[in-house]
Amino acid sequence: MPEAPLRNRFPLLDEVTYLASHSLGAVPHATKEALGEYYDAWATQGIHAWDGPWWETVEAFNKDIEELLNAPSGTVAPMLNVTRGIAGFVSALEPTQGRDTILMTDLEFTTSYPLIRGFEDRGFQVEIVESQDGRTVDPEAIVDAITEETLLVHTCHVYFRSGALQDIERITEAAHEKGAIVLGDGYQSVGIVPTDVDAMGVDAFVGGSHKWLCGGPGAVYLYVREGLVDELDPKLRGWFGLEEPFAYEDVEDRGRPAEGTRRFLMGTPNVPGLYAAREGIGCVLEVGVETIRERSLSLTDRILVHADAQDVEVKTPREKSKRGGMVCIDFEGSEKVTEALAEEGFVVDWRPDCGIRVSPHFYNTEEEVDAFFQALIKAR
Ligand SMILES: Cc1ncc(COP(=O)(O)O)c(C=O)c1O
Repeated sequence: MPEAPLRNRFPLLDEVTYLASHSLGAVPHATKEALGEYYDAWATQGIHAWDGPWWETVEAFNKDIEELLNAPSGTVAPMLNVTRGIAGFVSALEPTQGRDTILMTDLEFTTSYPLIRGFEDRGFQVEIVESQDGRTVDPEAIVDAITEETLLVHTCHVYFRSGALQDIERITEAAHEKGAIVLGDGYQSVGIVPTDVDAMGVDAFVGGSHKWLCGGPGAVYLYVREGLVDELDPKLRGWFGLEEPFAYEDVEDRGRPAEGTRRFLMGTPNVPGLYAAREGIGCVLEVGVETIRERSLSLTDRILVHADAQDVEVKTPREKSKRGGMVCIDFEGSEKVTEALAEEGFVVDWRPDCGIRVSPHFYNTEEEVDAFFQALIKAR
């Protein structure tokens, strides 16, 4: 059987059978040292940490994310969370007579509904495309809903409820034909599914580090396409988004926005969060997302074989091209079984309508998947 790459770098894997990377990726040992470096720079350099290692860490984060997304330099900026990234991007859009609709599906991440509904007060209309099976949304249903009135289509690359992979490229092509733009959410895809913002054609993309990138909370990003970004003037803005944050003194105007996606920064970036994310993202880059995807598909195939041998419902699409890194399985009593499994050291999670979400990453082994199902049979 193939070795699980870099497995010995993740201490948690010696403690438990960890199959919950869709929720929180395991942390590498080296992150402890990275956080120590953050502290040492502060302790020994004081304010000079800013123009030295702290700002270098911000830039290194942007560069790593650009590499993961195949995005040009200057198109990514760090955010505190995805909610903030979406809010900043939408704040730069203007609803006009005849083009004012934000189109979403009913499978987006929970945060998108209260957030986007908040923009209705600014003159946006919100339209929701409904999933027919509660797990997938046919891209053609989204395509059919895009009209000349659509300003923005906002959808996930992989849906958190089911692990279904969306054909964003098809949606983007149709949106552009109608003069609309697309904001993708890649939190459940980047790090486990190869993601190329250029090939997808998306106008903007958000995602973050605490799931498949093994980088912990607070290291999130917003990508905005070159060419589009120059036309956008975010209303959620601040001094870090200005070309000259220190030179700015004119209280009469707003200051000149920075070049590229940095204009979406508001205040001080979350430096410790970016230090914490460095090693996990580094591991993903070292293994390579193409290799990770191959391994993930093989491990999730194995989950499907086990699931089919048991009387459980699979709530994730079976076709390789239609699923991300997570498989949802459900049966009567699945919530209780998840609790029993946790006591035995098997870490997965449970959500209403999804059932048990099982997510192997590059560091998991075939034996762990087999052991998980043996424990599940015992616990039922
Ligand atoms: C698809 C998706 N988007 C966004 C988030 C998180 O958003 P935020 O960074 O605002 O907490 C999650 C999960 O935490 C998610 O699964």
